Amino acid sequence: MKVKVGLFGLGDMLKFKHLGDNREKAIEEASEQELPCSYKANDIARLYHPYKQYLIIKDIIKENEDTKSFILVADKSKQKELAPFKAGSYLSIYVHDKDNSLLSRTYSIVSSPKEVFDSNEGFYKITIKRVDNGALSNFMLDKATIGMKLESSEPGGFLTYNSLRDSKNVIALAGGVGITPFVSMAKAIVEGIEDFNLTILYGVRTSKDILYKDELLDIINKSNNKVKVIHVFSDEKLDNEEHGFITSELISKYASKFSDNSNYSIFVAGPTLMIDNLRNNELPKLNLLPKYIRIENSPLYLDGDSNVYNIKIITKGKEPLVIKAKGNETILEALERNNVMIRSKCHLGGCGYCRSRLIKGEYASTKYLKLNEVDKKFNYIHPCCSYPRSDLEIEVFEY
Ligand code: FES
Repeated sequence: MKVKVGLFGLGDMLKFKHLGDNREKAIEEASEQELPCSYKANDIARLYHPYKQYLIIKDIIKENEDTKSFILVADKSKQKELAPFKAGSYLSIYVHDKDNSLLSRTYSIVSSPKEVFDSNEGFYKITIKRVDNGALSNFMLDKATIGMKLESSEPGGFLTYNSLRDSKNVIALAGGVGITPFVSMAKAIVEGIEDFNLTILYGVRTSKDILYKDELLDIINKSNNKVKVIHVFSDEKLDNEEHGFITSELISKYASKFSDNSNYSIFVAGPTLMIDNLRNNELPKLNLLPKYIRIENSPLYLDGDSNVYNIKIITKGKEPLVIKAKGNETILEALERNNVMIRSKCHLGGCGYCRSRLIKGEYASTKYLKLNEVDKKFNYIHPCCSYPRSDLEIEVFEY
């Protein structure tokens, strides 16, 4: 058999022939200096994606009777700086209460991404409203004090602007404390970090329930017409203000006011009832492509099972532990009540951080849970939105 060797092929063969010699030569000539043990790319990755953040409450601001804001700074004894974030992100906050049980929940960041880099002391600001059965929310409102230490996840979430996916015109639909991610976005627009037009339709019961009224007014004035806020009062009729609920007609009315009159994206954050009504009844009437609709879901709850079950917990390197879990609490809540800390972030079944392995037993999940094929094949469950329906045995990965 004849092998044809072209000019370039011949060059390759010669190079290959000298490969060993060349390598020896390169090793001999190499500097004796040690290779760096830290790389810039790794440092940046660690900054953006810390495994856990250690925070201190620097200030508490009363917003109204049942809502407070918290200024969180880095616990400098444990971490130098805070992880940066994109406007619209949330943090999962973890707190150990006095009984030493653990509480966790996600809260949107209301401060601007720029405020993390403040030269004196970068901070996150979160706003918390009292809710029925909101163990951590109510703990923060009633018991948290300035100086208290807590932990958090890295910032995360999908309710963030992406110029490749979203329209340059965004209508934000906010209900109650769901205004917070949009305040952060509005600040980012004014500071030149984000570049899009934001019209916020803000649903509240009465004018007393408006959060961030003055701050938003200031932002609107500085925004060069890029940020607008329209209040929609459900329980109050006021001159020149919208009344009722956020509907497809109302959305269309304000979408038509964007100066270029092109397409628009919808971002939604608020209570579950509002989100369900928009998702099921109002948004479909707008005939928008799915990529133009982004919804930040609120946690769902499965009631209807008042039984108490045993959960046997297997953790690598530890003796198995058996805990009690109620049928109407998530497996994550039961773990945390017993001070078993596993990683969690979204609390909605979406991020997969809380993934744990089911060894035995039955469970039920909320409709948001999306198990992928690997989870199904190897029996992984997401305890943040799974409820026991029999005694269980699970393997968890401690955080
Ligand atoms: S915390 Fe995100 S899936 Fe459980």
